[in-house]
Amino acid sequence: MESVIVAIDGPSGTGKSSTSKAVAAELGLSYLDTGAQYRAITWWMISNGIDTTDAAAIASASGKPVIESGTDPAAPTITVDGADASGPIRTQEVTAKVSAVSAVPEVRSRITELQRSIAAAAEKGIVVEGRDIGTTVLPDADLKIFLTASPEARAARRSGELKGKEAADLATTREALIKRDAADSSRKTSPLAKADDAVEVDTSDLTLAQVIECVVTLVEEKRAVK
Ligand code: DC
Repeated sequence: MESVIVAIDGPSGTGKSSTSKAVAAELGLSYLDTGAQYRAITWWMISNGIDTTDAAAIASASGKPVIESGTDPAAPTITVDGADASGPIRTQEVTAKVSAVSAVPEVRSRITELQRSIAAAAEKGIVVEGRDIGTTVLPDADLKIFLTASPEARAARRSGELKGKEAADLATTREALIKRDAADSSRKTSPLAKADDAVEVDTSDLTLAQVIECVVTLVEEKRAVK
């Protein structure tokens, strides 16, 4: 069977990660969480005392950390300079600072290059999730999906995910999420955007299983005509 490249973009809380992982697992494809890579570089900047509001400092340090992603959808991994970063990249501090770091063009070009080489190495194909995959990273992807959901549905999902880790009430989560999406959508270099040829799926009133089924069907249709 021919390899297939699937780009899944959209704002946070739309079910992107859960959907992407499950679709990749079901179809025997690799999986790449590009948000985790931007979080990893942000975590490295914080850990190394770099002011995340100083774009010039971020740009000049952007080539230093070695970021590696494991692409097994059943157990995706992310390391920075060889150390497991999967826990630290999910803190509220990283979440609050990642938009500023990921808006720096030098950070984007470095991470984009990494993403393209990972996608090229995936023999059976890959599901890549992010914000600019269909528009910038992999404009020739076989299938592009853009997931959306109402702010209420997204905030409810995010605070559900955070439960037990870091307490965050619904209103705070909603505000933080709207702020981050606005920053991600308005930045100059490859903002969060729907590609013209992407299929938009509104997940507000769908269960995760329904979203997965919808995307799997779309991938199978693409494979059938390839
Ligand atoms: O998907 P996530 O919430 O883990 O992503 C974290 C941040 O990384 C998000 O606020 C914007 C940035 N990001 C990006 O700029 N481009 C991507 N392809 C993926 C994430």
